Amino acid sequence: MSAEAVWTPEDIPDLSGRTILLTGPTMGGLGHYTALELARRGAYLILAGRTLSKVDATVSAIRKEVPGAQLEVLELDLASLASVRKAAAEAAVLGPIDVLVNNAGVMGTPYARTEDGLELQMATNHFGPFLLTGLLLPQLVASGAGRVVSVSSLMHTVALKAPLGDPLVKKGRYQRWPVYGQSKLANLLFTGELERRCRAKGVPVSAVAAHPGFSGTHLVANGQTGRASGGIASILDATVKGISQPADAGAWPSLMAVTADLPGDAYVGPSGFKQLGGPPRRVGRSKLAKDTDAARRLWEISEETVGLRYP
Ligand SMILES: NC(=O)c1ccc[n+]([C@@H]2O[C@H](COP(=O)([O-])OP(=O)(O)OC[C@H]3O[C@@H](n4cnc5c(N)ncnc54)[C@H](OP(=O)(O)O)[C@@H]3O)[C@@H](O)[C@H]2O)c1
Repeated sequence: MSAEAVWTPEDIPDLSGRTILLTGPTMGGLGHYTALELARRGAYLILAGRTLSKVDATVSAIRKEVPGAQLEVLELDLASLASVRKAAAEAAVLGPIDVLVNNAGVMGTPYARTEDGLELQMATNHFGPFLLTGLLLPQLVASGAGRVVSVSSLMHTVALKAPLGDPLVKKGRYQRWPVYGQSKLANLLFTGELERRCRAKGVPVSAVAAHPGFSGTHLVANGQTGRASGGIASILDATVKGISQPADAGAWPSLMAVTADLPGDAYVGPSGFKQLGGPPRRVGRSKLAKDTDAARRLWEISEETVGLRYP
């Protein structure tokens, strides 16, 4: 697909026989709408979420629209390296995986450290997905042409530097928005480095990234209040929905990244005004996101942090 071409879900081919593992499938979020569309096209979906009742609700909603949908549920808390290891061990019996969609994420959360000593946004948005991808790599390889899709953000451009400090050590005042930006920059650095490492080693897996512009999900409410509804969370949710594109449209870039014929390290996002909305196409990224030295260094830090070297 050329860099200029705009894409719509009509371009999605039949996905029968393809296995796709997607993180963060909660109802109303990008993961839900991404999964729904993939289920319509016949993919076998493994839906990985930290709150099983929420994943079950999404399964019911998808089954209502796609009665024959093939859906598997996996418990996964990306903010816990132990949980990621447990989930990957459970997924190991599910056979080859064609596409891993690292969709789950948090945004602008108050300062917190995980049980592993990592800052919460970096843990959830980068280190957890880094470990998950490494542990699932054998299954991605087994598919013959695996693909890893990372959901980044326009906000990667607010990062003034790559997150290359010791992730276990707090340096200076915590600033929730720059740290979110750094975690989303990390998604792009990860994508580029994974792609380069797989090509260098002849590993049949490619890496691409997507961003949804500004989409009406629960991301703001979850990040600012710790929940998706009730009181101030509902007000935030409604406000975001009033000024952003609908969440189902926000899933289009992810769907393009999962299914379109794209070169490795491609990045897709909305084609509309300032990339906030509209049908997706290939888009550019910040200068920092193209820094291959930073990408290599972040990879080494990540390997050390999660205790896994790959590919
Ligand atoms: N919406 C936008 O405008 C926008 C813009 C740019 C980028 N993005 C990116 O899009 C992705 C999806 O976000 P969204 O907008 O759909 O937000 P959302 O509605 O809040 O969905 C986020 C998903 O991530 C899951 N999640 C959060 N922490 C997790 C953890 N520790 N372990 C496993 N799952 C976890 C949530 O599960 P629970 O429901 O159980 O909390 C939920 O399923 C994120 O990576 C986000 O950074 C969104």
